[in-house]
Amino acid sequence: MPSLCRVRRISLAAAALLGAVALCGPAAAQGSGKLRVGLMLPYSGTYTALGVAIENGFRLYVAEQGGKLAGRELEFFKVDDESDPAKAVDNVNKLIKRDNVDVLIGTVHSGVAMGMAKVAKETGTLMIDPNAGADAVTGPMCAVNIFRSSFSNWQPGYAMGAVMAKRGHKNAVTITWKYAAGDESVNGFKEAFTKAGGKIVKDLTVPFPNVEFQALLTEIAALKPDAVYTFFAGGGAVKFVKDYAAAGLKEKIPLYGAGFLTDGTLEAQGAAAEGLMTTLHYADALNTPRDNAFRLAYAKTYKLQPDVYAMQGYDAAQMLRIGLAAVHGDVSKKAEFAAALRKARIDSPRGPFTLSASHNPVQDIYLRKVEGKENKLVEVASKALADPGRGCRLQ
Ligand code: BEZ
Repeated sequence: MPSLCRVRRISLAAAALLGAVALCGPAAAQGSGKLRVGLMLPYSGTYTALGVAIENGFRLYVAEQGGKLAGRELEFFKVDDESDPAKAVDNVNKLIKRDNVDVLIGTVHSGVAMGMAKVAKETGTLMIDPNAGADAVTGPMCAVNIFRSSFSNWQPGYAMGAVMAKRGHKNAVTITWKYAAGDESVNGFKEAFTKAGGKIVKDLTVPFPNVEFQALLTEIAALKPDAVYTFFAGGGAVKFVKDYAAAGLKEKIPLYGAGFLTDGTLEAQGAAAEGLMTTLHYADALNTPRDNAFRLAYAKTYKLQPDVYAMQGYDAAQMLRIGLAAVHGDVSKKAEFAAALRKARIDSPRGPFTLSASHNPVQDIYLRKVEGKENKLVEVASKALADPGRGCRLQ
């Protein structure tokens, strides 16, 4: 009863007059009928491939469960969020008010995710964030109905700060896009790097999604730091890695980054990426039975190799199944849904993980090195790293 349910959300009194409450409220609340899933992802712009991989991963897990999660069939509603924070509230409201979704899956861009989380929190709509690392989503904006299957921006950055200090680098330049993901990734890096005695020479930024790097690469060459730490992803990461090599910097000033720099991008980056070291909660060839099965199924289904985004989409679906099973499909039981996820050990292709009190993955962060078309595992850089969840009052 989608249209009547929508009436119920707009005005309970009006819906009661129409006799609609009895028709849609209890049925939906008790978890019968199709679960309405809103996919809010980028299907255009620099993060398009990331959005597609997340949807692929999500759908793969659902298919493995016979097309249902905890006994409920799914109906999908999609919005292209264009990685545009200015449109985030309107876009999420299309899914909540127009399409009357039960759960939001999204998104990639941290600025857009914060808009989504605000509305999810205000309306109590269940939300699983399958990528965007915005620290605030599992920090000050945390809520009983908001979960993340991916990472906080702080996590890979913090792990890399320790790695670079251990590798003997005394000072570093940082370079990233000027928005929450870049700022927070760099902050995580600086926290660990300076704690270990490292110095920051300069923080450089370009506006998102600008890819005009030349002036900043010239500045890096002049500054001559020991090393560079960076956050770029998607199409921007491809361009940055190629430009860095073309500027002749690759052999002179080692480039490191959060693993998005080289995940899902190696085909396009070619030789420019060879040897780059990054930190992330996933790597190619982890060679565990769980990951091998996932990678084989993904490759068979999509004729593509999976990447970190596909894995996060897959795990968002796993998390939804775990929560739904605990509440017998009734998403209105938020506390019970959350309790099930808080005690779950999620059997992820990345390796098993749990959720922190603020609903962010507590997970191993891997150090990886590009060899050919793979981000090869070097070692575990940080074991069971938990985001500090600063500002979250959910505990
Ligand atoms: C972010 O905006 O949070 C983000 C985007 C792409 C990759 C990783 C993080």
